[in-house]
Amino acid sequence: MANIEKDEVSGVDTTGHEWDGIKELDTPMPRWWLWTFYATIVWAIGYWVLMPAWPLVSEHTKGMLGYSSRGNLEQELSAAEAAQADKVAALLATEITEVKDNADLYQFALAGGRSNFAVNCSQCHGSGAQGGPGFPNLNDDDWLWGGSIEQIYQTVQFGIRSDHEDTRIGNMPAFQTDEILERGQILDVAEYVLSLSQEGRDMDAAGRGKEVFAAECSSCHGDDAKGNTELGAPNLTDAIWFYGGDKDTIVRTISKGRANVMPAWTDRLDDAVIRQISLYVHSLGGGE
Ligand code: HEC
Ligand code: HEC
Repeated sequence: MANIEKDEVSGVDTTGHEWDGIKELDTPMPRWWLWTFYATIVWAIGYWVLMPAWPLVSEHTKGMLGYSSRGNLEQELSAAEAAQADKVAALLATEITEVKDNADLYQFALAGGRSNFAVNCSQCHGSGAQGGPGFPNLNDDDWLWGGSIEQIYQTVQFGIRSDHEDTRIGNMPAFQTDEILERGQILDVAEYVLSLSQEGRDMDAAGRGKEVFAAECSSCHGDDAKGNTELGAPNLTDAIWFYGGDKDTIVRTISKGRANVMPAWTDRLDDAVIRQISLYVHSLGGGE
């Protein structure tokens, strides 16, 4: 039989447990603690009744409120779509050159353009649109096909040497493969091209190359070699290279030609998305 007695100091019963003369008091739980504990039980029961709670074999109890996070998400998504529908309609109804005048619409276009660029364009142009050899940098103001918003929009819609009938087409001929120039002439004209943006080139060779350039290259790249956006012919004087600016690469470009392909997007993306992306690219710093 447990040895229950009153503790003299506190006046509380002991539990009857004793270790080496130390006795355990049977202090009751504080009221506030007990009531909180009962409240959590009531809360839990209420929760089971109202909210989805108990797993069943292949289902779960749904709760009287019919709450579901998936249903909420669906509602939010359709609300967001409905909210965007107006902006998309406004974007389609506004001349692409005038979107900038509407700050709200412009922000909407840039945000959409940024995320759609990441999905559709970054594989080739880089996540920061910085490009790489054969894939133009879209941040700078050096444009093959022009950097006005209409020009960019056209490029993105129809592509470059793409399979779309309205594609942009420009051709860098293969001067050696097609036997238009001798090897020596190609080396000379490469030297001339390099001399346009670099000091210390072989000026004798560049002098001979200048004549070749005037005869064979200026029709596309211009007399001053500053390029022509109608033909997609790059500016050769600015030390910004699309394929590469070392002599081997330039000789390779002239000898074998170049024809990189940028896909057409008009059949793959909605017009609203193409407009968003074009405005985004235009905003990257080089837009004209
Ligand atoms: C499969 C690779 C590829 C993808 C994907 C791609 N591009 Fe391009 N893009 C190119 C290449 C290659 C060129 C350069 C073509 C040439 O030689 O003129 C180019 C050129 C461009 C130009 C012209 C640049 C100038 O200097 O005039 C723009 C603008 C452009 N791309 C935007 C985009 C946008 C926006 C997307 C996404 C919707 C995109 N590109 C997706 C490969 C790609
Ligand atoms: C029929 C028009 C045309 C003629 C003629 C032409 N080019 Fe080009 N050139 C282009 C086009 C278009 C490109 C861009 C190719 C591309 O986008 O894939 C280009 C690209 C280049 C590039 C690459 C530039 C870079 O940034 O990497 C060099 C270098 C070049 N041309 C030099 C020459 C030289 C030198 C000649 C004369 C021997 C010449 N081109 C004649 C149209 C022409």
